[in-house]
Amino acid sequence: MSRGLILGIESSCDETAAAVVERGARTLSSVVASQIATHLRYGGVVPELASREHLRAIVPVVRAALAEARVTLADLDAIAVTSGPGLAGALLVGITYAKALAFAQGLPLVAVNHLEGHIHAVLLQDRSLPDGHRSEADQAALALVVSGGHTHLYLAQPTAGTWHYSLIGRTLDDAAGEAYDKVAKLLGLGYPGGPWIDALARFGNPHAVPFAFAQIKTKAHLGGKAPRTKAARTAPIANLDPHFLFSFSGIKTAVLRYVELNRLRDEAAARVPRMLAAGRPPQTKEAALALCPQTTLDLIASFQHAVVGDLMKKTFAAAESLDAERILVTGGVAANRELRERFTAEASRRGLQIAFPTLALSTDNAAMIAAAAWPRFAAGEFAPADLTADPSLALGLHPKP
Ligand code: KG4
Ligand code: ZN
Repeated sequence: MSRGLILGIESSCDETAAAVVERGARTLSSVVASQIATHLRYGGVVPELASREHLRAIVPVVRAALAEARVTLADLDAIAVTSGPGLAGALLVGITYAKALAFAQGLPLVAVNHLEGHIHAVLLQDRSLPDGHRSEADQAALALVVSGGHTHLYLAQPTAGTWHYSLIGRTLDDAAGEAYDKVAKLLGLGYPGGPWIDALARFGNPHAVPFAFAQIKTKAHLGGKAPRTKAARTAPIANLDPHFLFSFSGIKTAVLRYVELNRLRDEAAARVPRMLAAGRPPQTKEAALALCPQTTLDLIASFQHAVVGDLMKKTFAAAESLDAERILVTGGVAANRELRERFTAEASRRGLQIAFPTLALSTDNAAMIAAAAWPRFAAGEFAPADLTADPSLALGLHPKP
């Protein structure tokens, strides 16, 4: 009898990952090769280097995932791969390899949207619990996908075993994780910035700098004037409720202005980046903490407090307006400690269910890709033979203009 084993492959950004998951529920292995060391000195992901690193890592990573799961290619029932959104060259490495493996083994190939993968990182955990301990895994939920590339709100609904998604809100410009990374970079902290800011924020005063988010106006609310950002011009946002739209480019500029006005740049330049310039970024959070002046810690804490506050305000407002009783928060930024604490407290105050992935499954991984593929595999939804990368692949239904 088939064991329902799916090999997932993920290469959309800067992690090469492979995992074997049984029936979308039990993770037999999850291997992630991070390229952080490669991109560190550039303070962000360099697409050409990412493709090269994926090419190097893909074969050993898949081998390690099979070995850790104690299975061979012959035991698999399907192969799942991220087909978008992401970096074109990076996606192509995973897709080409997955196609070749599927063809050689005579296995079906399932294409997975990376954002759907993030949502299934939470559902995977639910499904892995023993009977009777599961939360309402198959219940509709409002999902906030908050990562380095996305800040999107979806209503996820299961119908006859497969999941359907409706876009409820999104960022008009930067993703929340991008703001974390840019702020960390301008302060001279390491890449990716989220974990550094997360660790340092708890030593600062979150009310020291009053960062504010203005209410966003969409085209309709601008009285027919064209929206200013490129994303706003190209994306179907006109029909989204402006209360559920995000914008994180302003806070990055506000942090920069604050740093310049308060001469924090001098402090940061003199202290934190000295290690970066020496080619040796701080290896531990303690080392970074020892080199951060209190003003910088207060700034970091205030930035994080404002970002988490804005994510919360809009997510809970959307849950209320949609009557959603369950919220899922997923993606790299969902690893954030303050975010988890404040979302959990607010959900319990409102009597809503809330779920996050484990820390390991919050950031990019392939277990979530194999898990998202399971319902598609069961429904016989296979990828076409000419599957290719779709860097701007959208998820689910978008509101009609
Ligand atoms: O999901 P992910 O691994 O990749 C994308 O799909 O983008 O997310 C990476 C993002 C980065 O911007 C990183 O700074 C952020 O997630 N991140 C965090 C934390 N850990 C990772 N942001 C805030 N707090 C964290 N603990
Ligand atoms: Zn991701």
